[in-house]
Amino acid sequence: MTSADAARRVLEAVNASGRLYRDSLPMIASENIISPMVARAVNSDLHGRYAEGLPGKRYYQGCEDFDTIESLGLESARRVFSCRFANIQSTSGTVSNMAALKALAMPGDTITAVSTADGGHISHARMGAVGVRGLNLVTYPWDIDRMEPDIDAACALIRETEPQLALFGQSVFLFPTPLQEMADAAHEVGAKVMYDGAHVLGLIAGGQFQDPLHEGADVMTGSSHKTFPGPQGGFVLSDSDDEKFHKKLNSSIFPGTCSSYHLHHVAGKVVALAEFEAFGSEYARDIVTNAKSLGAALAAEGFDVLAEERGYTASHQVLTRHGGPDSGAGRRAAATLEDAGIITNMNMLPGDTKAMSGPSGLRLGVPELTRVGMGADEMQDVARFFARALIAEGEITTVKRDVIEFKSRFQTVKYCFEEGPAYPGL
Ligand SMILES: Cc1ncc(COP(=O)(O)O)c(C=O)c1O
Repeated sequence: MTSADAARRVLEAVNASGRLYRDSLPMIASENIISPMVARAVNSDLHGRYAEGLPGKRYYQGCEDFDTIESLGLESARRVFSCRFANIQSTSGTVSNMAALKALAMPGDTITAVSTADGGHISHARMGAVGVRGLNLVTYPWDIDRMEPDIDAACALIRETEPQLALFGQSVFLFPTPLQEMADAAHEVGAKVMYDGAHVLGLIAGGQFQDPLHEGADVMTGSSHKTFPGPQGGFVLSDSDDEKFHKKLNSSIFPGTCSSYHLHHVAGKVVALAEFEAFGSEYARDIVTNAKSLGAALAAEGFDVLAEERGYTASHQVLTRHGGPDSGAGRRAAATLEDAGIITNMNMLPGDTKAMSGPSGLRLGVPELTRVGMGADEMQDVARFFARALIAEGEITTVKRDVIEFKSRFQTVKYCFEEGPAYPGL
């Protein structure tokens, strides 16, 4: 293959990937699509520009227009997240975490966090940002039935280990963290409290989950492209009124963890913030309603949906179990669903120990299905497709054909100023 052929092959694969998502039910909980206005900002000349520093204090010329963009974004982020401090430069949730860990802890310090086996993110682990910062990790005791830290045991652990930083939040995130009591225990021993809202940031901003910055968190980090429906990127937020602390957080992003911070994505983030101010509460409410409906509909179809006694979920996610611990049944279910045009990811559940071959569950998300206009009725249809593929073991090509026909009715991105094609340019 010549290099020109390789370049063409890449563009063909880009389009093929777009068509796959256009024609399927994308249900990966961390994914979403962007609005037409956000897409225009992202696909702009800004993609190649630099603006190190903060609005009005730059190391480069040519930043006047970008200063307008970032200043509007900072004001909007402070309103959307009801807080005194925002930094909107981070290029991802992971970079936001690295920056916050840099600002809040020193190498050799102790951090408490949710273990990855219980749903914590890799950036909370030794193999990720926590290890990069050289921190000693101690994980919280976990309440498997409630899918949250065991509050009394976690408070006792914090008092006993006296960490410098107590980190909360997960990637598998069904219910709000009972934060206040554990944050009080952390503050009692002089620790700072950080909440990673990567997954649930849109639900928090939309008033549908919890309000960590007013329940004891000193800093909240997050991604800008999950339930918060913007382009890839991150946020670092705080309600502290301490300007020295604001400076420390800003400098942990630049020069701490970013140089160029992807100005086109920041511009897209600022448009997404403006759209969120207009449509975010409704969007967050509809996501949670849909997730609860999906949980109930899957259970009615005969699936083992976790946390039945708590109403299955209070977030954008639903967890299902497809076999015993380490059976790999989740892996097989995800592969069958993909053949049927339903894109999901396998997930380890309590008892599973092998991340690649063993997962017995699926983690399902509804942010994208909600964004293209599906409601509670459609969640019943989606659950029926799951049952046809996985329980009735129906002809997969027939299920896929019906999924494509069903999805063809949901091709417009909603909750934004200019509705348009959800999967443009194909
Ligand atoms: C809890 C949590 N934090 C951080 C991240 C990383 O976010 P990003 O993919 O934006 O780096 C994720 C990713 O899903 C996550 O689940």
